[in-house]
Amino acid sequence: MSASSPEAAPDAATDHILGHALENVLDVRGLTVEFATEAGWITVVEDVSFGVRRGETLAIVGESGSGKSVTSLACMGLLPPAGRVGPGGSVSLNGVELLSQRRRTLEDIRGDRIAMIFQEPMTSLDPAFRVGDQIAEVVRRHRRVSRRAARARAAEVLDLVGIPRARERVRDYPHEFSGGMRQRVMIAMALSCEPDVVIADEPTTALDVTIQAQVLDLLRSLRDELGMGLVVITHDLGVVADIADRVMVMYAGQAVETGLVDDLFGAPRHPYTEGLLRSMPTAEVRGTRLASIPGQPPPPSRFGDGCRFAPRCPYAIDECRSGALVLRRVANDHEARCVRTDEIVLGGVS
Ligand SMILES: Nc1ncnc2c1ncn2[C@@H]1O[C@H](COP(=O)(O)OP(=O)(O)OP(=O)(O)O)[C@@H](O)[C@H]1O
Ligand SMILES: [Mg+2]
Repeated sequence: MSASSPEAAPDAATDHILGHALENVLDVRGLTVEFATEAGWITVVEDVSFGVRRGETLAIVGESGSGKSVTSLACMGLLPPAGRVGPGGSVSLNGVELLSQRRRTLEDIRGDRIAMIFQEPMTSLDPAFRVGDQIAEVVRRHRRVSRRAARARAAEVLDLVGIPRARERVRDYPHEFSGGMRQRVMIAMALSCEPDVVIADEPTTALDVTIQAQVLDLLRSLRDELGMGLVVITHDLGVVADIADRVMVMYAGQAVETGLVDDLFGAPRHPYTEGLLRSMPTAEVRGTRLASIPGQPPPPSRFGDGCRFAPRCPYAIDECRSGALVLRRVANDHEARCVRTDEIVLGGVS
């Protein structure tokens, strides 16, 4: 195979920029999100880049407030009125730039080519309407089909996500479903038009462990069956290990480490990732007291210069506290934002 053939291993310096961007069904580059506050605009998400391919799961993980939901809402064009996307960013879906689309066009794309599953099902289910009608409405919004065909589609997707007696249950109201079943209804709604990408924000947090595993299994099998790109947002590394191929670790509005799950779990390159891994309950340590990372992340108003994790980092030196820190390639398909990454040896999990 010649070096110029498209199948050849891409040049190390360009693989991230070219190779992945072209294959990614969703490709986000340099995304920055700002919110209007009394003190002016503050940046809550800064220069975030990631991509997901068809049939692949990317997990976005990080503590509360790290910017996971804001990142996904920005991708969907669903930021609240006080928020805006900063200049220079790009969110492209199947090669189509979303950030420059008119509101109407975006509404056509949303729910059709890209869909979101929210953490709290009742935020997207209306308690006053039958679930079948709500799903049928999504279908009719995007497809020219009769009311009857849309209702049939609703029953079909409810069946697809494993709701027993789906043809009868289309007539039920959201409150007539249990928490786990309601989450399935949400997934059914997101899948009703067979989108290319689904973003699931903490899809299982509200559920008990057994149901959580069932919902993750369901997402995984639907991803494979429909060939979707799946983005799962979670603070739970157990969920990451369970479902994801790649992971982006966020801290204080920035990506601090990205890589394949096995690489990142086995040999983390950022001290924050090591801290997260240490606080993860594993089979061996379950029941014992977990190490947690002491301290709190800074609020966006106090992000400042230097490494944002430095105040909590056991490896921090003076050099960490000043200057701009870049997310830099540390190995093939593996990036970290740490000036000491080459001199410290961090512990992973197998
Ligand atoms: N409407 C808003 N106005 C101002 N700041 C906001 C607004 N919404 C979110 N933020 C800020 O943006 C930052 C990121 O919030 P985000 O909800 O994305 O965090 P998260 O990682 O999803 O956390 P969690 O795990 O708790 O869901 C936080 O500092 C939050 O306070
Ligand atoms: Mg969130």
